[in-house]
Amino acid sequence: MKLKITNSVAKTDLIIINAFNRNNKLDIPSWDKSIQADFKANPASKFFKGNLSETVYFSGDQNFLVLGLGDSTKVTLEVLRKAFAKVYHEISMKYKSVTVGLDGLTSLEELSVVGALSESFLMSAYSFDIHKSNKIQPVLTDVSFLVESATAKLRNEIKRVENIVSSINIGRDFMNEAPNVLNSVEFAKRIEKDIAKVGSVKTKILNKAQIKKEKMGLFLSVNAGSAYEPRLVHLTYTPKKVTKNTKHIAFVGKGLTFDTGGYSLKPSSSMVTMKYDMGGAATVYAAFRALVLNNSSAKISCFIGMTDNAVNSLATMPDSIVKARNGKSVEILNTDAEGRLVLADVLDYACDFKPDHIVDCATLTGAVLVALGNETCGLFSNSDELSGALLDSAHRSDEYMWRLPIIQEHKDDIKSPIADLKNMGSSRFGGSAKAGAFLEEFIKNDISWAHLDVAGIASDQGHLPYCPKKGSSGLIVRTLVDFVNSI
Ligand code: BES
Ligand code: ZN
Ligand code: ZN
Repeated sequence: MKLKITNSVAKTDLIIINAFNRNNKLDIPSWDKSIQADFKANPASKFFKGNLSETVYFSGDQNFLVLGLGDSTKVTLEVLRKAFAKVYHEISMKYKSVTVGLDGLTSLEELSVVGALSESFLMSAYSFDIHKSNKIQPVLTDVSFLVESATAKLRNEIKRVENIVSSINIGRDFMNEAPNVLNSVEFAKRIEKDIAKVGSVKTKILNKAQIKKEKMGLFLSVNAGSAYEPRLVHLTYTPKKVTKNTKHIAFVGKGLTFDTGGYSLKPSSSMVTMKYDMGGAATVYAAFRALVLNNSSAKISCFIGMTDNAVNSLATMPDSIVKARNGKSVEILNTDAEGRLVLADVLDYACDFKPDHIVDCATLTGAVLVALGNETCGLFSNSDELSGALLDSAHRSDEYMWRLPIIQEHKDDIKSPIADLKNMGSSRFGGSAKAGAFLEEFIKNDISWAHLDVAGIASDQGHLPYCPKKGSSGLIVRTLVDFVNSI
């Protein structure tokens, strides 16, 4: 889909104009007199009240769609994203080109309106159909935003958003890909190929022998039962201008291409969506890619641990004790708590590069869904400042994020009687925070670190009309991009 800025209405298949509702009455912004007359001549307009997401179509010299946005004082960027996502689904099979009027949105900055609408259209247009014999292509290819003056600033905003959403959509493709196709070796290859096209990134991919050499015993224990070699993908982006004030941010992602649970086998009903267990990896990769495309001024590293968690005669048995890269011994009581094992060694590795901040992202626990529901991302951190910055970014990006505590009792509960640590607490209560407490054991050099548990939000976010009903959501990428841009 092509997005454009225009300051004149050319011939187009559909013009979308806004209307509002004030005190239960239709409230029309400054439409042309002739448009008002054509609207009134349409019988359906009589009942149209301008309520949120209410639509009515009419024709004059062109075809019009009036989109109700409700109370104009309550219209936010997220209200626009959602309303236009619904419109996208209504019109994308019927019209090839549309022009979008921005009338009446006076309380919002034009630049951010164009940005949010671009996000909405591009995120909504995503579908995963590579395995379908009959692909249904949307008809809609051209969207023009009608503004007073078509400035370079507005055009650049569209380009910036295109870079972010193309990255979100690549992350969505990775997540939606089937686990028999996207194994760890293939996942690393696809990232290597994709980032080579983007350019300006140093790529290092560690294979099994190199991961062994790094003494990543926990990571290897998860891979022990797999038919595929593990991969540690390490990407580095350095901005053109580096000063002593240049910040270095490290992203770390859980890239479990499938999680059977291992010997602590998952029941089939919970195993079935576990191809999404590389959602954290897809999220950090998408954010990294978007930041590179938009020439971020920060240095950014991205570390992704890739394997599946499978079962064969070599798979790690519960009760095993394994040595981590940082030297700590871990009693593996449940092989289904595998994400924290992979992340532990990768976090320790990431700390060696002494970044200013580490943010990891993982579909780590089912317990985060119990704590926060499946609409909110869980945040855990050793730093109030870093937490504050991430929460601010989530708020600015209209993505739900909530901080949960890691208390001393959680740290005590993951101590093992026969090893340094155990990979789960003694009860299921506070399971997400105990997983966070486990990860914190692998942060060194006093680096500020935050862990995002995206198990609830990485997939199936049908409550958001700009996300597919089923499958990867692409959420939190916008938050991470905003975070790096504002740090
Ligand atoms: N990948 C799962 C977490 C998960 C659950 C993601 C549901 C998405 C939806 C993780 O590896 C896991 O299995 N965690 C266990 C930990 C437990 C054994 C301590 C869990 O949450 O049950
Ligand atoms: Zn698991
Ligand atoms: Zn998992």
